Amino acid sequence: MTPTQSPPILAIVNQKGGVGKTTTAINLACYLAEFGHKTLLIDADPQANSTSGIGLDQAQLTHSLYDILMDPHTLEQALCPSPFPRLHVIPGHQNLASIDLDIGRMVSRETRLKDCLTPLHSFYDFILIDCPPAINLITVNAMVAATATIIPVQCEYFALEGLAYLTQTQVLIRENFNPNLDLLGILPTMYDARTSLNRQVIANIESVFPNQVFSAIPRNIKLSEAPSHGLPVQLYAPKSKGAKRYQYFTQEVLHRVQQATA
Ligand SMILES: Nc1ncnc2c1ncn2[C@@H]1O[C@H](COP(=O)(O)OP(=O)(O)OP(=O)(O)O)[C@@H](O)[C@H]1O
Ligand SMILES: [Mg+2]
Repeated sequence: MTPTQSPPILAIVNQKGGVGKTTTAINLACYLAEFGHKTLLIDADPQANSTSGIGLDQAQLTHSLYDILMDPHTLEQALCPSPFPRLHVIPGHQNLASIDLDIGRMVSRETRLKDCLTPLHSFYDFILIDCPPAINLITVNAMVAATATIIPVQCEYFALEGLAYLTQTQVLIRENFNPNLDLLGILPTMYDARTSLNRQVIANIESVFPNQVFSAIPRNIKLSEAPSHGLPVQLYAPKSKGAKRYQYFTQEVLHRVQQATA
């Protein structure tokens, strides 16, 4: 029997904190589901912001990604329905903070997440992984499991330096574990067109990564308010600029994924 082909598995990565990874993961997941795609959002961050931002109550959850990485047999218990049709979540948990120590000595420590996800390939059209702000064993597991990365960057002076380090890491992952890992694109976030530095940073990133930069997401208050209501922006403020730009970004993602698999 031939194994089921992997759906697109998109790791949303940047070792820098606060650049919009979780905001991107939540809103991309919800728009993909709204467009009719069965989607799984994996919260790989001990801060578990995707889990709460999507409206799940940590106190009600019995299992998380931590349990799956420790014991793959817990996969079914950790798969949670979300408040939204076609969207499931594997929650994050603060235990993930010690995962480097806990799985560091285990066999195939870098491929544990990839191996866990294989039985899910036929159930989802998209799998998204919201990574923590670090290049640690969890992020390595995410990049080994992924078919492609999306890199959100804040349009500020040090963005390119961070990107250089991240793309070097991606090369190492390709060479050692996952030769097909693609860069789906770089997503400028919290963009303010009035600021010349913001415009300059995007121009610099485009010159180093031609045709790989998504249309920027503007700084928008509704995007920052939505998580405190446990809602994606498409429900919290569907007419806001932030909602419209994440909807457009989701269409760009669908287009790039189709191009990559054509
Ligand atoms: N486009 C935006 N406009 C306004 N606020 C935003 C936007 N994107 C993200 N934010 C806010 O910026 C903060 C950081 O965003 P987010 O949590 O998505 O980043 P992150 O990269 O996941 O952070 P961490 O590295 O800590 O996981 C949050 O308070 C979020 O609500
Ligand atoms: Mg986050």
